[in-house]
Amino acid sequence: MHHIAVIPGDGTGPEVIAEARKVLAAASASLGFSYDLTEFDVGGDRYLRTGETLPDAALEELRGFDAILLGAIGHPDVAPGILEKGILLKARFELDQYINLRPVKLYPNVDTPLKDKGPNEIDFVVVRENTEGMYTGMGGVQYAGTEHEVSTQIHCTTYRGAARAVRYAFQLARRRNQRRQLHLVAKTNVLTNVGGTWWRAFNEIGGAEFPDVTREYAHVDAAAMWFVKNPEWFDVIVTENLFGDIITDIGAIISGGLGISAGGNINPDGVSMFEPIGGSAPKYQGQGVINPLAAINALHMLLEHLGEPEASARVEGAMTAALESGRIESMSAGRMGMSTAEVGDLVASLV
Ligand code: IPM
Ligand code: MN
Repeated sequence: MHHIAVIPGDGTGPEVIAEARKVLAAASASLGFSYDLTEFDVGGDRYLRTGETLPDAALEELRGFDAILLGAIGHPDVAPGILEKGILLKARFELDQYINLRPVKLYPNVDTPLKDKGPNEIDFVVVRENTEGMYTGMGGVQYAGTEHEVSTQIHCTTYRGAARAVRYAFQLARRRNQRRQLHLVAKTNVLTNVGGTWWRAFNEIGGAEFPDVTREYAHVDAAAMWFVKNPEWFDVIVTENLFGDIITDIGAIISGGLGISAGGNINPDGVSMFEPIGGSAPKYQGQGVINPLAAINALHMLLEHLGEPEASARVEGAMTAALESGRIESMSAGRMGMSTAEVGDLVASLV
């Protein structure tokens, strides 16, 4: 029995989660695994009602689950940073979900803005470090509101933090396919301090433990360019938190956009959280036009993580078949030619 926590969250989050639940029910009915779902009321509405973001009691409860499925967090009436830091980043940090795993995979019949590139050229994974870098909140503001205002936002990398991300990425590169290739993406020519730590972790661990995996390096600015020009060069990438944040948006757009892209916040020894990476899209809320495929894709990752590879493959297969049917006209909200629920029904029927 898998115990799954569900945070539908804000905006269109509940709508896409409803479709992921349909697909989960279909997979369980046809494969016979069992699960239960526990919903958590967390998000902007609760914050506006009670002032609470992710209370410690909820966090403690979340630790007891096998996985978390998250819809979206973000509310137009809440100032930027409150929900992001209070909920999403708090969960990532406190649950020590130190890997943000972001596949960049172009499925059949999905449009990419890249000319002459198809599913064979766009299929790689970004392993984004998820608990350090510029995200720790270190730094501060002095003399605020004056001419002398000084603000610092400190990038913090620890050897341990880099090493555990690098080790995870090497393991992934080893098992993913025969290419066995790992790129480190950093900025070792300018950010020589933190770049040096990443470089050392990458080469020490790679040399000692993963001699069978080819080590490659790209500066982050060049990597951004090559994602567009030569995405086929990449197989697995490991990078620090903010670089990973930025390049995975490029990854999302070259593989069909936020309507289909998903990611996992992973603690290999704890509880992991899977999410569509598109956000709460409040302008589409309640219209039944948001694409649920990203949430279904997140479910596919969650099932694999739970040790249900067959169910995970079925969900991905159903997504692929739905796309191959040609009935979903676009990945963009409002332009699918189908409603949110119809896309969910279609995928569920193909599981
Ligand atoms: C993401 C998002 C978050 C991040 C925000 C919402 C805090 O952009 O998951 O990529 O910066 O990590
Ligand atoms: Mn982001």
